[in-house]
Amino acid sequence: MFQNIENLPADPILGLNQTFQQDANPEKINLSVGVYQNAQGHTPIFSAVKKAEQQLIDSQLTKTYAPQAGDPSFLANISKLLVGNELVSALGDRLAAVMTPGGCGALRMGAELLVSTGFSGNVWVSDPTWANHFPLLQSAGLSLKTYRYYDSSLNGVNFPNMLEDLEQIPSGDVVLLHGCCHNPTGADITAAQWDQVVEVLKARNLVPFIDVAYQGFGQGLDEDAYGVRLAMSKLPEVLVANSCSKNFGLYRERTGSIMIVSATAEQTKAAQSHVLAAARRCYSMSPYHGGGIVGHLLSDTALTQEWKNELNSVRERMNRLRLGLAEGLNQAQSKINFDFVANSSGMFCYLGIPKQDVLTLRSEFAIYLLESTRINVAGLSEENLPVIVERVSEVISR
Ligand code: LMR
Repeated sequence: MFQNIENLPADPILGLNQTFQQDANPEKINLSVGVYQNAQGHTPIFSAVKKAEQQLIDSQLTKTYAPQAGDPSFLANISKLLVGNELVSALGDRLAAVMTPGGCGALRMGAELLVSTGFSGNVWVSDPTWANHFPLLQSAGLSLKTYRYYDSSLNGVNFPNMLEDLEQIPSGDVVLLHGCCHNPTGADITAAQWDQVVEVLKARNLVPFIDVAYQGFGQGLDEDAYGVRLAMSKLPEVLVANSCSKNFGLYRERTGSIMIVSATAEQTKAAQSHVLAAARRCYSMSPYHGGGIVGHLLSDTALTQEWKNELNSVRERMNRLRLGLAEGLNQAQSKINFDFVANSSGMFCYLGIPKQDVLTLRSEFAIYLLESTRINVAGLSEENLPVIVERVSEVISR
């Protein structure tokens, strides 16, 4: 059966991370995959998460199946965290959530929902978007098109272009938006621009599918939820894919949720039944452990506060490093003005250097970033920053 098959190319992000792991150079630096690293280069477990996990384990009396939609405490609390208490109450049963294996599982379940309910339009994604959006959504049967977003001549979002493209999208199509901390560019739209985007979605009867993988990594937990909350308060139908990989540091536990808002409670219930059926035919139901931890943590005021404090420190450290990189590069060379790096948001930003320089950084100095020039800001550290500044400046100045 497998005699004639060939190896597939490695995943552009996970494959590069693998190459990094195998690099024997002791000075290697990993700016590839989106994983937070502390000053020692470790990805620690949040202390509040560790405590919640221990309490969960100590109090758990059974490993029988959880409800099919997932842990009720997780679903209620993650909805409040992202959507906000008031809007959760206002939406009532027009909002439903299903626990999923990470944000990828949520994106896939959203795609399965669209396909199984007969959606035959296009899903419009930003140019560029996270590389895995394509295989995840297309292999479910969706067809993807792009709208203009990042403009490398501006090193930022070209909002007039984005709006112009959204205004051309046929009614009824789906628009995939990054809730915050755009991956890969780190270039977000402002709150005022969200207002305009949602107006266009409403006027053109477009359905947003919002990917929120970095809530709390951009401006703050509430600020990063602005777009989701606005869309849910103004539009009849919204899909949201949520991930707890980064903001709870639960990467390997595969924890996330798909949230559905429809025009009526009955429609939401029906849509949720399609997600449950899709999950059943793909993997039956989501793993429980990560959701159990988050549900437990967010039900406890003290643990929630401790986690928020830790998340704030993570964000502030990333911001300091981002600023340090921009300032360092600006001081060390004069070819490129890197102010845009300081203004980017979340875990990633583009460096905007020639692709050849990316390859040189990898081959000569074992500094790994994606060919798109995306760097994982959380891979910077107080220790490696001066080295990165020196080597990037050297390579681009040649
Ligand atoms: C990334 O973009 O690096 C992360 O979201 C990890 C992944 O799965 O690609």
